[in-house]
This record gives sequence, C-alpha cells and structure tokens, in this order.
Amino acid sequence: MNKDLALCIRGLKRTYKTEGEELHVLRGVDLDLYRGEIVGLIGPSGSGKSSLLHAAALLERPDAGSVEVGGINGLKLSERQRTALRRDDMGFVYQFHHLLPEFDARDNVALPLLIAGYSFAKAREHASDWLTRVGLGERLTHRPGQLSGGEQQRVAIARALVHNPKILLADEPTGNLDPATSDQVFAALTQACRGSGTAALIATHNLALAERMDRVVTVENGLVKPL
Ligand SMILES: Nc1ncnc2c1ncn2[C@@H]1O[C@H](COP(=O)(O)OP(=O)(O)O)[C@@H](O)[C@H]1O
Ligand SMILES: [Mg+2]
Repeated sequence: MNKDLALCIRGLKRTYKTEGEELHVLRGVDLDLYRGEIVGLIGPSGSGKSSLLHAAALLERPDAGSVEVGGINGLKLSERQRTALRRDDMGFVYQFHHLLPEFDARDNVALPLLIAGYSFAKAREHASDWLTRVGLGERLTHRPGQLSGGEQQRVAIARALVHNPKILLADEPTGNLDPATSDQVFAALTQACRGSGTAALIATHNLALAERMDRVVTVENGLVKPL
C-alpha cells in the first residue's frame, strides 16, 4: 500500500432505480488522490459528480467497487467505524455553507474539535488559527449573518479542515458566488489544503478554477477520465 495515497477508488458502480427505470450513473469509476493533491472534478450537470463525491464520502453504499481512505476500505467497516473515519480523516464543503447561525465564526469552526473531545480553549485556539489561514483573522466573533457569502464559505472551509483530514471533498464550493468572490474563496481553499497536505477532490462548473488545480478529471458516461 502506498501511504501517500489519500483516496483510492476502484470499480465503483452506482445505479439509481426509479419506477422501473435504472439509471447507471457510475459504471466502474477508478480514481486515485495522492497526499496533498488538488484534483478538479468536472462534467455537465447530471453527469454524476455529486454521486461520486457521496460515494467517496462513504455516505451511500455503492453497488460495486471499493473506496479506500488512507489505506482503509471504508465499505468494509461497521457503521460506527465508518462514522469515525469520516469524522477523523475527511472534510466536506458544500455549495451552501450550513453554518450554525447563532454561533460566531470561531465557534462554528471549533465545533468539530469540541465533538472530538478538545477543551474549549484548545478548540477555539485551533479555530482562530484556521480562520486566520483563510483570511478571516479579523472576523472571529462575527456570526454567519454578519459575514458576506464568500466569507461564510471561507468559514465553512476552515471548519472542514480544522481537524487536519486526509481528504477534503468539495461539491461546487464556489457555485453560489460571483466570479471575483469565487476566485478568492478558491484561492483560500487551495492554499489551506496545500499548507496542510490535505488532498482535495473539488467538483466545479468553473473551468477557469479547474485549470488552477494540480489535475482535472471528468465524469463522462459513468466513468472518470483525465481531462
Ligand atoms: N437519489 C437519486 N435517485 C435517483 N436518481 C438520482 C439520485 N441522485 C441523483 N440522481 C440522478 O443521477 C444523475 C447524476 O446526478 P448527480 O450525481 O447529482 O450529478 P451532478 O452532480 O454531476 O450534477 C442525475 O441524472 C440525477 O438526476
Ligand atoms: Mg452535483
């Protein structure tokens, strides 16, 4: 096993069954992500990007194939072990930030660490550090409603990375932002991943952003191919 392999997907198949119809969305996907590598995932709407990210996140059991995170086959784990793997080794960013509105930026980011058993002081210290890394050192005690869309998304990025996951899975993380803000948020995301050696798989519609990643793959006809 190559210990630099953060994510290894083999032969992944996913079929949705709806009222007598079968939709073969993933037909045998192979994909490797190495430590610290930032990979763009592009493809038209409906091509299966979110389905692939869901499978990589171990949120749904595929019909066939394997998903290894840091060398551990996530599909062979018990529910409890899988939850622990997701919590410890993975981070997630979505198109909408899902921050808690009553908590300030720092406590939103500290929350995963509090759940993991950190003391309040330590969790806040790490949260402040990560918010500073994404350019929000001056916004620690702002609540989400007091932040711009791009700032909210940077808080979500800090929250996803605060526990130093092996991989970050991001589904259209800038899909809801204007082009200039997308650019800033994307820069913060890649810089934060590069600083911590976290591998990232980022689904995006934005080809200009995709070109700034280390590598780009496409989902087409149920398969993942290099661009
Ligand atoms: N839970 C589901 N049940 C049935 N069909 C689904 C489900 N989730 C996604 N699909 C279908 O699978 C295809 C791929 O969807 P998705 O993975 O969301 O693509 P993308 O993220 O690239 O837009 C689409 O045709 C979508 O309608
Ligand atoms: Mg999608």
